[in-house]
Amino acid sequence: MIKAVRGTRDLLPPQTELWNFVEQTAREVFRGYHFQEIRTPVFEDLALFQRSVGEETDIVSKEMYTFEDRGRAASEPGQRLALRPENTAGVVRAYIEHKLWERPGVQKLYYMGPQFRRERPQKGRYRQFYQIGAEVIGPPSAGSESPARDAEVLTMLADLLDRLAIENWILELNSVGCAQDRPRYNEALRQALAPVVDKMCADCQRRAVTNPLRVFDCKVPQDQPIIATLPRISQFLDQGCRTHFAQVQEILQGAGVPFTLNDRLVRGLDYYTRTAFEFTHGALGAQNAILGGGRYDGLSEALGGPPAPGIGFAIGEDRVVLALEDAGRQVGRAADVYIAPLGAGMDTQAARLGRELRRAGIVVELGDESFRLKKSLETAAKTSARFAVILGENEAQSDVFALKHLASGEQVAVPRAELAARIKAGS
Ligand code: HAM
Repeated sequence: MIKAVRGTRDLLPPQTELWNFVEQTAREVFRGYHFQEIRTPVFEDLALFQRSVGEETDIVSKEMYTFEDRGRAASEPGQRLALRPENTAGVVRAYIEHKLWERPGVQKLYYMGPQFRRERPQKGRYRQFYQIGAEVIGPPSAGSESPARDAEVLTMLADLLDRLAIENWILELNSVGCAQDRPRYNEALRQALAPVVDKMCADCQRRAVTNPLRVFDCKVPQDQPIIATLPRISQFLDQGCRTHFAQVQEILQGAGVPFTLNDRLVRGLDYYTRTAFEFTHGALGAQNAILGGGRYDGLSEALGGPPAPGIGFAIGEDRVVLALEDAGRQVGRAADVYIAPLGAGMDTQAARLGRELRRAGIVVELGDESFRLKKSLETAAKTSARFAVILGENEAQSDVFALKHLASGEQVAVPRAELAARIKAGS
C-alpha cells in the first residue's frame, strides 16, 4: 500500500475546520492592520535561498528539497530549483521583481501556505508544514526602518494569538545588530571560539570559520557548555541599534504587549538584523516555537534590489492547531437540517427544496429516496442535524412539510414559504 511520505500528512475533517478557523481569524486580524495577501510559487531558484537564508544555515545546508529542472534543449543545463523552505525570500524576490517600491508607502503583505524542510519528523515538526506569515517592506523614506513597524508587527501577533484564545504565550525579544556591528561581534566570537573549537562538533568547527553566529544553532549537548560562555550580541550593538531596540520596547510597553528579553536568541536564518523574536508556548513540548521573525534590513540589496528594510514573521500553523487541539478547542458547524425524501421520485423534490434552503443560508444534508423513514431519521441523527424535513408525495403536492426537531422529537407542519425562517429560528 502506498502511504503519505514520511514527514507529510493528510489533514482530515473535522480537524480541517480548525485549520480554516485559524486562517480566517488571521485574515481578519491582518485586515485590521491593513495587510494584503501575496502568493508566491512553491518552488524557486535554489540560489534565492542560498543568498538569503544563507549557505551555512541548517535549512539550506541540510534540509532543502532541491531538484534540477530540465533545460529547454537537451544540451542546455537544467536550472537548480528548491521547494521553498520559507516564504520571506520569495516575497522579497517578488518585491524586487515587480518593483513594488514604486507603490506608495510600505508594502504590508501576508501569505499562507506549505513550506518544505527535510527535518527529522516528530510532534509539531513535519517535512511539509504550513506557515502563516507577513512582511512589512519598503524604501527607508517610507518609514520601513522605524521601530514603529516592529512594534506594529508584534502587536498584530499578540492580537492574533489572543483572538485565537491561545493562552500563556511568551514573546522573547532580542536585537541581533546590524551590518556595522556584526563584523566586531563575529571577530569576538572567533576569538572566543579559537581555544575551544577543536572540542566542538564538526559543524561548529566549520561554522567558527565561515559564519560564527551559526554556532548558536548547534544542538549537540556536549557543545552547549561552551556556547553558554560565548560573548552575547547585546554587548556589541552600536548606538543606532541600541536606540532602535529601546524604542521598540518602549512602544510595546505602551501598547500593553508583554515580552521578555533573551540575548541568546539569534534565529536560524542569516538575513536577520536588529529586532529578532520568537513566541513560545509551553504546551508544545520540544517544538515550542509557535512563530518566529525579525528584521532583515539588508536582504533586498543582497538579492540585487534597492535598499528596502523590512520586518516580518511566520507562524507555524501546524503548531497553532496543535495548541488549540490540546486546549480542547472545537469549531465547525453541524448541518441545520436533514431532508428525508420518502419514495420514488422524491430525490428531485429534495434537490429542489435543498437548493432553496441553502440559498437562504441554511446548511442542508440530503437523504436518499431509497431509505425508509427509520433509516432516514437515524442518518439524520448521525449528521448531528438539528432538524429533519420529511418529504413524501403528500408534502410535495401540498407544499407543507413535516419539520421534526430531532432532539425533542417534536414535529410541526410548515408551509414551504415559512420553512427557512422556522429552521433559522430554531438553530
Ligand atoms: P522560522 O523560525 O524558520 O522562520 O519558521 C517560523 C515558524 O515555522 C517556526 O517558529 C515554527 O513554528 C514553524 N516551523 C518551522 N519549521 C517547521 C517544521 N519543520 N514543522 C512545523 N513547523 C515548523 C521563518 O521561516 C522566517 N521566514 C520567518 C520570518 C518572516 N522572518 C521574517 N519574516
